[in-house]
Amino acid sequence: MLIRIQPDQIDVPLPSEITPREIFESRRHFLKELAVGAIAGSGVLASAGAWAQVAGTRKLAARRNDSYVVVDKQTSYKDATTYNNFYEFGTDKSEPARNAGILKINPWTVSVEGEVKKPMTLDLETLLKLAPLEERVYRLRCVEGWSMVIPWVGYSLSALIRKVEPTGNAKYVEFVTLADKKQMPGLSVPVLEWPYVEGLRMDEANHPLALLTLGMYGETLPNQNGAPVRIVLPWKYGFKSAKSIVKIRFLKEAPRTTWNVTAPSEYGFYGNVNPDVDHPRWSQASERRIGEDGFLARKRKTLMFNGYNDVAPLYAGMDLKRFF
Ligand code: MTE
Repeated sequence: MLIRIQPDQIDVPLPSEITPREIFESRRHFLKELAVGAIAGSGVLASAGAWAQVAGTRKLAARRNDSYVVVDKQTSYKDATTYNNFYEFGTDKSEPARNAGILKINPWTVSVEGEVKKPMTLDLETLLKLAPLEERVYRLRCVEGWSMVIPWVGYSLSALIRKVEPTGNAKYVEFVTLADKKQMPGLSVPVLEWPYVEGLRMDEANHPLALLTLGMYGETLPNQNGAPVRIVLPWKYGFKSAKSIVKIRFLKEAPRTTWNVTAPSEYGFYGNVNPDVDHPRWSQASERRIGEDGFLARKRKTLMFNGYNDVAPLYAGMDLKRFF
């Protein structure tokens, strides 16, 4: 069902808007239709008490970069670590926290390859030292209609891009994430093509907001949030922010990206937050802030580019209804 409402109408949610099935679980239902089995092996125990510090994380010293701190109230650590999308560990929001404890993140390497003069394989300690770690408080808006405000730790992806010296042929960057059936029970269910892959145009990847992320809340990333290394792109829907990255490839052509391949009419390559372009099955004009707005409410107006207007020049002259 297509719900189209004007931004000035959204402070009072329409009855059609507050249907959880339509709004919050629509994607899950869609995927369930595609799935041919139940998730196997989800009995793995996660860290007990995910709302204290998640087991296995450690402190990370980082300087807060005030240029990248939104004033919104931060989402609680408990909400940010127990309400997750990480389908490799299950499609239910609570499953990553329960199932991701098994993921082995040490040793871990990220191979940086493709159209670069200096391909390299980086281990975790090298990644942690590649550039000064910063704390940045970003909004993250999920395509499903909810959002969070999280203090991430990392540095601009551009710092890594500079090190590998892309060739003139590098027009896109692809992020390939871990796909290991032994550790990831969700891989037994063909809901998506594995590995989960995402991508950016080079100028997007070089934008200072694109954060190569190694931690959150002053600690290393909990597994359910994409340990040990993920990308965070605050002006794009959350699905673009690939978790548990093992390969970064520089390409001449646009990569095939997971959600775009799964449902091209619903998830475009760009995935920019845009309140004027509805998802075919729901409005994107408003959002529910996790931990603050009631479960059925979608009271907050969603802002163009999630409020990160600095990125607008990247898309100058593009028809954002077509390139969504
Ligand atoms: N990365 C991988 N590898 N697998 C996933 O299922 N889900 C994406 C993104 N990155 C996903 C992923 C989606 S849909 C969202 S909204 C964000 O991760 C959620 O990140 P969070 O759980 O840390 O809030």
